[in-house]
Amino acid sequence: MTVINLMKVAGAFSLALLMPITAVQAEENANAQTAAAKEQQLRDKSLREKFPVQYQSWQETSEQSVREDMLASYPAAIILWAGSSFAKEYNSPRGHHFAVADVTHTLRTGVPPAAGDKGLSGSCWTCKTPDAPRLMKELGVEGFSAKNFTDVGTEVNSVVYCTDCHVDGKAELALPRPHAQDAMAKVHLPFDKQDANMQGAQVCGQCHVTYYFQPERSDKVNIPWIFGNNVDDIEKYYDTRRFYEWIHPISKTPILKARHPEFEHWVRSEHAEAGVTCITCHMPEETDKQGNSFTSHKVSKALDHFDSVCQNCHKSEKTIIKSLENSKAKIDAKAREVEGLLVKAHYEAQAAWEAGATWPLMNDAIMAIRHSQWRWDFAMASHGLYAHNPKEGNALLDMSIRQVNYARESLAEILKKFAVSKVDYPDISSKESAQAAVGIKLDKLTQEKQEFIKQEVDKNWSEVTRYGY
Ligand code: HEC
Ligand code: HEC
Ligand code: HEC
Ligand code: HEC
Repeated sequence: MTVINLMKVAGAFSLALLMPITAVQAEENANAQTAAAKEQQLRDKSLREKFPVQYQSWQETSEQSVREDMLASYPAAIILWAGSSFAKEYNSPRGHHFAVADVTHTLRTGVPPAAGDKGLSGSCWTCKTPDAPRLMKELGVEGFSAKNFTDVGTEVNSVVYCTDCHVDGKAELALPRPHAQDAMAKVHLPFDKQDANMQGAQVCGQCHVTYYFQPERSDKVNIPWIFGNNVDDIEKYYDTRRFYEWIHPISKTPILKARHPEFEHWVRSEHAEAGVTCITCHMPEETDKQGNSFTSHKVSKALDHFDSVCQNCHKSEKTIIKSLENSKAKIDAKAREVEGLLVKAHYEAQAAWEAGATWPLMNDAIMAIRHSQWRWDFAMASHGLYAHNPKEGNALLDMSIRQVNYARESLAEILKKFAVSKVDYPDISSKESAQAAVGIKLDKLTQEKQEFIKQEVDKNWSEVTRYGY
């Protein structure tokens, strides 16, 4: 009776329909969310019982809590990454158990955007949690990446987990991320056709790989390997697409950013050729209490396992440590040299623009800065490069030095043409001075972030997003 009466009144009718639908939708969303969380709890219990030693060693990555503030160690990087969030905070990696909480807390992911802005893509979650591939299945890859980073936060229930590397409930390996399936096919190493050894390396390569968010595809994660996966092939891909991550605010360079290309460097190494993979070195075989061997899932520092792993092929620990130290020292020295030169190049370009230089004059120098910084970043962002492929690391940085020197020679001529005799360089002696030079106010950013954590994360997000904080 009431319904019929309402239907006669057009306004009330639409209102009556609208309100329950919104409420129903909200309830469905809440149910779906708790359903996913509940399903995960059940799965977790069953996997813990079925594979106790793997489960326990996986949990032990929570012991690896130490990390290094890379911006404090290498403040010049702040100038090179000016205009991007990398200049705000950048740490070395630590144990897998921290992956979700670290991406939640870093200043790089900021606070929720203003109403109407998309802000940071949900794609940032792709390499932290199996909830990312789960949501991609539910929403479609672009449906997922079109979501905002903070909106996805409430959906995240677990961190680098069994189902990130295995078929659900089984020991069999899997590659659940569509971007990784595509990438391995691009370099003619389709996952399904590989032996167990290469499949093991590829599960790591889902995340320990360089990527970018594809702007014309709702910011979905894409691996830029169409032409191949070395530094030149990837650069060619980006250059032909005229792609850039951001315009550098000082030099106006369209910047390319590399991200942890560990897979790329390893795949061309002597170790890869000898069939030694990420798993050999970072997930060694161990023996449980019953004397059965199993794969340690405490993915951690490789050198901790010298005796059980490296010694199978290298007799002298001393020689290997020395060799690693030499490689590290050489690569570090070259990286610091490039950074110093690139800082100068960015400011010299700024001086040239300010003096009236135009694009036809500047093009060569700016492209050389782009290409030099890309090579430096492809080395810098690759954790463990000195151990994984020092030969390639040195080659990258040698070319990077040549390119930045070329840029500076070209800029020197332009500055001469405009009678600019002095360029002011920033103080890069500390993180504080370098951040001040590019206008980053760390106190304010930190305060805003803490407020967001208190008001949103602590109240509405799962425990795993706060792990270790
Ligand atoms: C980062 C990827 C990764 C994660 C996360 C992961 N595994 Fe594994 N797992 C592997 C790899 C690689 C192997 C070794 C496969 C091989 O070489 O045969 C393996 C092997 C196994 C095996 C076979 C027996 C053995 O010890 O070699 C089992 C069982 C297993 N994992 C269970 C689990 C469980 C349970 C979890 C979650 C608590 C988990 N895995 C999380 C990558 C992973
Ligand atoms: C789902 C994505 C993902 C997968 C798969 C993955 N990792 Fe990681 N890994 C990460 C992230 C993210 C971090 C950094 C976590 C942090 O610092 O909060 C990390 C950190 C690490 C570290 C540093 C640990 C430390 O204590 O310093 C090592 C080593 C590592 N991973 C190796 C591997 C290996 C080997 C595999 C394959 C068996 C693998 N990872 C698979 C995402 C992943
Ligand atoms: C020959 C052994 C070996 C192989 C193969 C290998 N690594 Fe490493 N990796 C090392 C060593 C040695 C280091 C230096 C620090 C350490 O772990 O002792 C390192 C460092 C790292 C780091 C940085 C850890 C940190 O806290 O800074 C990550 C991440 C990493 N490796 C991931 C991988 C991935 C992913 C693969 C495969 C694509 C791989 N490694 C293959 C030996 C190896
Ligand atoms: C299955 C065999 C194998 C294992 C296991 C292995 N390597 Fe190697 N390693 C090789 C081969 C092959 C080469 C290249 C040829 C050479 O230089 O001996 C190599 C080269 C190296 C080199 C450069 C050459 C040198 O002698 O300075 C270093 C450093 C190195 N390995 C470190 C490690 C470390 C650290 C581990 C353990 C985390 C490890 N390797 C595990 C086979 C292995």
